[in-house]
Amino acid sequence: MMGLPHIPPGRPVADGLPVMGSAAPLMRDPLRFFLEQYLDKGPVYEVHAAGRSYVILAGPEANAFFRRHASTHFDGAPIYAPYAQDIGSDHVLVGMEGDAHQALRKTLQPAFAMKALESRFPSMLAQLRSDVAALDANVPFPVRHTLGSWAAQAAGITMTGCPFHGSMRKLSRFAHVFLGAGVGGFPEFMRYLPSYRRARRAGLAFLRKHLLHAEGGASAPLVKALRQHRNTDGQGLSEQDLLANLHMPYTNSFVYVGALAGFLLHFLLRHPAALVQFRSRYDQLAGMGRTPDARALMADPFLSACLQETQRLQPISLSAPRVAARDFVFQGHLIRKGEALLIATAVTHYLPEFHSDPEQWKPERFMETGTGTSGKANWSGPVGTPPEAFIPFGFDGHRCIAAPLVRLLTLTMVGELLSAGELTDTRTGDVPLKVAPFPTVDAQWKVDFKRHPSGNAAPIRT
Ligand code: HEM
Repeated sequence: MMGLPHIPPGRPVADGLPVMGSAAPLMRDPLRFFLEQYLDKGPVYEVHAAGRSYVILAGPEANAFFRRHASTHFDGAPIYAPYAQDIGSDHVLVGMEGDAHQALRKTLQPAFAMKALESRFPSMLAQLRSDVAALDANVPFPVRHTLGSWAAQAAGITMTGCPFHGSMRKLSRFAHVFLGAGVGGFPEFMRYLPSYRRARRAGLAFLRKHLLHAEGGASAPLVKALRQHRNTDGQGLSEQDLLANLHMPYTNSFVYVGALAGFLLHFLLRHPAALVQFRSRYDQLAGMGRTPDARALMADPFLSACLQETQRLQPISLSAPRVAARDFVFQGHLIRKGEALLIATAVTHYLPEFHSDPEQWKPERFMETGTGTSGKANWSGPVGTPPEAFIPFGFDGHRCIAAPLVRLLTLTMVGELLSAGELTDTRTGDVPLKVAPFPTVDAQWKVDFKRHPSGNAAPIRT
């Protein structure tokens, strides 16, 4: 993220210490800090943390303003472009703006659309079932690494037709440092550590060998879409551009989907009645080795409500980092062109005017009253709230292109696990939150697993 060239006087400054500024509370729980400072200082305030400075825009007005003026007032390229350059590319969606961004997004959209996912779903399911079947039932499993690995494999199969071949530890290292130093709060020097360099080399070598140069690789949905793309100047993408996009199913899923599935599991384990209902709904659709329709899974009101309530209470994405593309005034404060901004999109997730008892995990807030389990899933947010009250996947032209993949994969992964056996949490207390560099469950958190004799780990009937 970038330093601020100049901040005009007169804006509130977030609480902090001399020199370190607000670094400690930001590292511990950034969302709580953004929220507390919003309630205390208002919708615009500055944060200084260990030599970096940002202007925070928070609350419903900020989210609505961000969406309305995204393409004219906000620029993501200066923040995200260095992330793609780590692989020698300037063609990664999140680091592009304008026509070039729209053209690449249009090319990739069909590969991430529900229609494509639907046809690939049996492969995703088969991969997850074989991973669950291989889980050692005699030792507690580490949630973060296990779910991250499964997510990477299943998303890989779905988007490219190819599971990752190689060390999962290395893939995890590549994913966490690449995304952490590029998009998150990890310091820049981590990109130069030999362990990261080795892990990145191994990851890119896998992509080259199995997706770019292997027979069959070219027919994978994502590879095909990228190969067909033409830039605004009529040129195709370079090999580095292909690599910079092809790692996403593996790396993004490892870090983000692994974390989201971990949080969903955490909340279900803390709410036994919801866990029983989740498992029963999942089993009705996919139990005993059945291969359900992906759309039927996504249409289930209770499964979708559990996932969304998890994304509300423990979002993985807390803010949108941008640079001001021009001078503008927001809520009486002048924002100068070039200033580094964080639109703290998730602050509204905790405002009681939108979500009663905001600290409580209550899936029913996403279900129409009286809908029970017979209605349709409502993916548009808690009933009766405006769009700016719940932002799990971004809010402008850069909103997550992979949202359907993330939802389908997370529900299926957790559903398969619950269906296959009995899980017992090895700890009590709050969400084992770790910000490293994105919110995730603590790497030390383990869960006991006792395989159910008739669970989905049984051979698949098609
Ligand atoms: C829990 C899982 C995930 C969450 C919460 C998430 C969230 C987000 C958010 C908030 C953005 C917008 C960033 C911004 O505006 O600054 C974004 C963009 C994006 N995400 Fe995700 N993401 C997830 C998983 C994934 C996965 C697995 C992939 C790929 C397989 C992916 C691919 C992308 C891409 C390509 C963009 C850029 C879109 C554009 O700039 O047009 N995401 N994501």
